[in-house]
Amino acid sequence: MEPVRVRLKNGKTVTIRRFRPEDKEKLVEMYASLSNDAVRWGMPPYTREKLERWFTNLENYISLVAFHGDRIVGHAQIYKNPHPRRKRTGGLIIYLHQNFHNVGLGTYMLEQLLELARKEKMHRLTLGVVADNKRAIRVYEKLGFQIEGTMKDAYFGADNRYHDELIMGLILDRGKTE
Ligand SMILES: CC(C)(COP(=O)(O)OP(=O)(O)OC[C@H]1O[C@@H](n2cnc3c(N)ncnc32)[C@H](O)[C@@H]1OP(=O)(O)O)[C@@H](O)C(=O)NCCC(=O)NCCS
Repeated sequence: MEPVRVRLKNGKTVTIRRFRPEDKEKLVEMYASLSNDAVRWGMPPYTREKLERWFTNLENYISLVAFHGDRIVGHAQIYKNPHPRRKRTGGLIIYLHQNFHNVGLGTYMLEQLLELARKEKMHRLTLGVVADNKRAIRVYEKLGFQIEGTMKDAYFGADNRYHDELIMGLILDRGKTE
């Protein structure tokens, strides 16, 4: 994929491109700089140790980053499940720096990511999202994901309460079986 330059709703311009191994430190820095609010519905902490797991088997990921200047401000990736019984299925995550929320970046990044997933002949994507994360759900639905089920009280929030988690799925190549 060629790098894509995008002008966001806040007037800032970012470049979206595939993650490269030399971006590691910048990605670690972005995750370290996320506010409590940005990871409110996530699974913190996003430490170097956690990220190292992604870096050790990069071939199993389709990973995109968004650069503003020389800082990474967004990361979206698909984990391609290597098990033959999960052939061409994957799990999706996305995290943006809090200064870049709600200005269209998430939508742009996921559009690019889904295009790559289709090019790589992926069949299905799955994600989990806390039911209170309305903005994320809106973005996923805009891109065609459907709510497939609810895991009641599966997420224990920073507010010391349980929250429902939704399972969302997207079939990328409906009808194909190989
Ligand atoms: C979730 C996230 C990836 C979305 O990306 P984003 O760039 O902020 O979203 P966008 O600006 O592309 O789109 C937001 C959409 O949600 C809508 N929206 C915003 N707040 C909303 C709310 N409270 N309820 C419903 N819709 C909402 C916006 O109007 C917009 O829809 P539109 O394009 O139809 O107007 C980003 O906010 C993020 O990284 N959040 C923190 C980490 C996170 O929660 N990740 C997902 C874990 S599953």
